[in-house]
Amino acid sequence: MLRSIVVSTKEKTYLVRTFGCQMNEHDSERMAGMLEGEGFAKAGSAEDADVVVFNTCCIRENADTRLYGNLGHMKRIKDLRPDMRIVVGGCLAQKDRHIIQQKAPWVDVVLGTHNLASLPRLLAESCERPAFEILEQTEVFPSALPARRSSPWHAWVSISIGCNNSCTFCIVPAVRGPEVSRRGSDIKAEVEALVADGVVEVTLLGQNVNSYGRDLDGTPLFAKLLRSLDDIAGLERIRFTSPHPKDFRADTVEAMAECRSVCEHIHLPLQSGSDRVLKLMKRAYTRRRYLDKVKMVRDAIPGVAVTTDIIVGFPGETEGDFQATLEVVDAARFDAAYTFQYSARPMTAAADMPGHLPKEVVQERYDRLVERQEAISLASNEAIVGSTEEVLVEGPSKKNPAKLTGRTRTNRLVHFDGKGTEEGRLASVAIATAHPHFLEGRSEGMGEERSAARMPLPLAATASGCSAAG
Ligand code: 5AD
Ligand code: SF4
Repeated sequence: MLRSIVVSTKEKTYLVRTFGCQMNEHDSERMAGMLEGEGFAKAGSAEDADVVVFNTCCIRENADTRLYGNLGHMKRIKDLRPDMRIVVGGCLAQKDRHIIQQKAPWVDVVLGTHNLASLPRLLAESCERPAFEILEQTEVFPSALPARRSSPWHAWVSISIGCNNSCTFCIVPAVRGPEVSRRGSDIKAEVEALVADGVVEVTLLGQNVNSYGRDLDGTPLFAKLLRSLDDIAGLERIRFTSPHPKDFRADTVEAMAECRSVCEHIHLPLQSGSDRVLKLMKRAYTRRRYLDKVKMVRDAIPGVAVTTDIIVGFPGETEGDFQATLEVVDAARFDAAYTFQYSARPMTAAADMPGHLPKEVVQERYDRLVERQEAISLASNEAIVGSTEEVLVEGPSKKNPAKLTGRTRTNRLVHFDGKGTEEGRLASVAIATAHPHFLEGRSEGMGEERSAARMPLPLAATASGCSAAG
């Protein structure tokens, strides 16, 4: 039994630290669930924990650097407490098993993206020797594992894993494997059970949610899935991330418009506004087609928020290509954007392309892009000042605990004054002030009693972060 790995009478504790996207948040909750199933309790800090799990990301290079920094810090703690166990899981582990072994030999367990379920066994084995196991195929769909959710009212629900695309900058297909969709009936059963347990908001996760179902039925089933989940009484909000623009079609937009619980927010990764660069990236759409999709969704869903991911400095990107990206940013008027500097990744086609750009050129373009987008985000937030928005309360604001924080259906962050406003409930908030990344306001009261009946656990949580991919 795992409990025996640390010889002590006090309660055994664990901490899972998550890097990267929402898929990793989801997987971390499963690892926490398995550890709690083994009798571990959550520790306050990594320094105190008996088992520390790093759930890693490798989408950009700085994620690697951060992991090794953290592992160096953990070595000093492990020198003082040799019984503690250090686990590295996730995408970087999948990619770099041998490098981790070499660079950080004090790590006890390495497991990849396909074998989360093996965590308890590998931990037990690590009593004898380091236990490193990476598989090439998923053995148990991670959603089938027990979860320890970090929020009582929000849940990540994985609808597919892996990706069948081959965007030339992206390492995800190499570390997460080909796309495998989960059966619709299993997804619905999970969401029903979550709602019965107090969840009011779910975020459906997949690398490319719009191709969900193609491997099950030969045809995409995402719109059908949204409609079937919308039937679940008590589910207030459905979010999803990320659709690939090439697969984002009218049937999904119609389902979004017609389903009460599907939020008025779409995250549609642009990556570049230059047709030449989009081709080099193998994105399979043009700027014209992309903008048509944005128009389609804005026409169908009043007030919808459109957000995106943009990469600056792809190999060979010229000033003209970058200007084309700025033009699309101006035309699409994104409500928010995650902006990234291109990072060469092993096992990707772009890494071997000619024309890698000097850091200063990329930084200078990046700064210009951020400035342009911040002005548009501010204008978008200013446009709703004076309105009253439905906000799902997340808890006290981190910056000012006298205030509460929550998100609108359009995923805008709101800090607001409100007494007696409970976490996990819907509040009506009068929006008073706009900033590029958040709004401020005052609560005018709580939503209907339907939420209150199901919200017995007032714990803090957040439901945000950068997109899984797409
Ligand atoms: N360099 C920079 N950004 C990247 N992304 C994915 N791969 C890279 C890379 N090699 C960004 C994309 C994707 C988001 C999750 O991360 O914009 O949509
Ligand atoms: Fe797949 Fe998204 Fe990566 Fe493209 S960017 S390969 S769609 S995960």
